[in-house]
Amino acid sequence: MDKILVKESNKLFGEVNISGSKNASLPILAACLLTDEKCVLSGIPLLSDCLAMKVILERFGAKVIINPLRDTITILPSEAAFTNDIPFELANGIRASFLVMGAALARWGRAALPMPGGCNIGLRPLDLHLKGFVALGANVDTMHGQIMATAQYLMGDKIYLDFPSVGATENIMMAASLATGVTIIENAATEPEIVDLANFLNAMGANIRGAGTNTVKITGDKKLNGANYTVMPDRIEAGTLMAAVAMRGGKVFLRGINAEHLKPVIAKLREMSVEVMEDAQGIWVSSNGYEGLLPTEIKTMPHPGFPTDLQAPFTSILSLTRGNSLVCETVFENRFMHVPELMKMGADIKIASRTALIEGVPHLSGARVVATDLRAGAALVIAGLCARGVTEVDNVYHIDRGYYKLEEKLQSLGAEIMRVRGERQEDVVV
Ligand code: EPZ
Repeated sequence: MDKILVKESNKLFGEVNISGSKNASLPILAACLLTDEKCVLSGIPLLSDCLAMKVILERFGAKVIINPLRDTITILPSEAAFTNDIPFELANGIRASFLVMGAALARWGRAALPMPGGCNIGLRPLDLHLKGFVALGANVDTMHGQIMATAQYLMGDKIYLDFPSVGATENIMMAASLATGVTIIENAATEPEIVDLANFLNAMGANIRGAGTNTVKITGDKKLNGANYTVMPDRIEAGTLMAAVAMRGGKVFLRGINAEHLKPVIAKLREMSVEVMEDAQGIWVSSNGYEGLLPTEIKTMPHPGFPTDLQAPFTSILSLTRGNSLVCETVFENRFMHVPELMKMGADIKIASRTALIEGVPHLSGARVVATDLRAGAALVIAGLCARGVTEVDNVYHIDRGYYKLEEKLQSLGAEIMRVRGERQEDVVV
């Protein structure tokens, strides 16, 4: 398995192009099953999760052609058909595999997928997804670890989500796009990735209004067409790089990111006395490093609250920020696994249930640490930039699921970081 070695580095200076959003790409790739016509997607990052979704589409019989030179992925779904033969390893390795359920059910009237396991950060149940499918008229059953949904036809309905689940909102939007009549999703997730999926579906001829608000209205249609589309930039990659600059210091321009997608993060950085300037092409972030930062309180919430996916990188910053800070993780029940690893580096953090009390320490020291999930892994990498000596981050395949060439981007900004290739993993898609 590959490792990443990080040395205490100088301040970061330069410019980085932000990659396409993983969390927008995955539902948009799944949505291509809703049509039998060609879709050409641009800006999809060639991350392991996106490559896993490619394999899933191919298991349905779609052709998927990656053209790295043009930065496009072409999906030809005309040959795609119902299958109940998606391998367990594939579905279990990427939870977002479940995002094909709504599209498959809408296209073929039936869908069957292995129940994706929970993952490190929590149980991650699917009850809200299934509630939506049943409301649209599907029968849902779980047998031998597979979830099956069948429906002679889908009929629009009003669906209230007990929690504004991103995945459930996306799955229901996709299924409702081919349902008869109108579907209203109330208490819908409002993340920018929902808006990006709705924009893609509308480019396919769907009729979706209100995406980005708590009430989404979908007027179903008989058929959707192919479409060309460019996914939005990755706000979590951008936020992670902003955290690196805030902590290490320097001045960096993040090209291509939409500041609107990062309002809670920009507000928090400014509270901590990081300088953030927005312009039409991207965001400038400038800091003197952790020595000059102010302690703060962070409470993760569904959008437009502070994003849970940036909780770990910000916990790293606060571990060196003088004074007491508080981080409350309200979205997932087990998303502090980076904390024991940061403590190996000398951080002073106490956890009580879903709250971390962080006492800033004068310095961190490099250590051998383990990435437990993709955001935790990134948090350890940016902590390593400020730790005395060398930090060795293991299990970087987690990082590769959600960050495209992270170490190369940081290197280009002056970070002393390198990847050490481990023995090749057998070709199992993660
Ligand atoms: C999406 O996951 C993202 N993944 C996650 O990013 C992100 O952390 C999360 O949204 C929250 O923003 C993708 O978009 C591929 P949820 P998702 O359904 O859809 C509970 C990353 O690091 N819930 O909004 O799975 C659930 O247990 C990943 O890039 C139910 O109870 O998130 C959790 O506590 C990690 N029942 C909360 O809702 C359900 O049916 C949020 O889950 C569904 C969810």
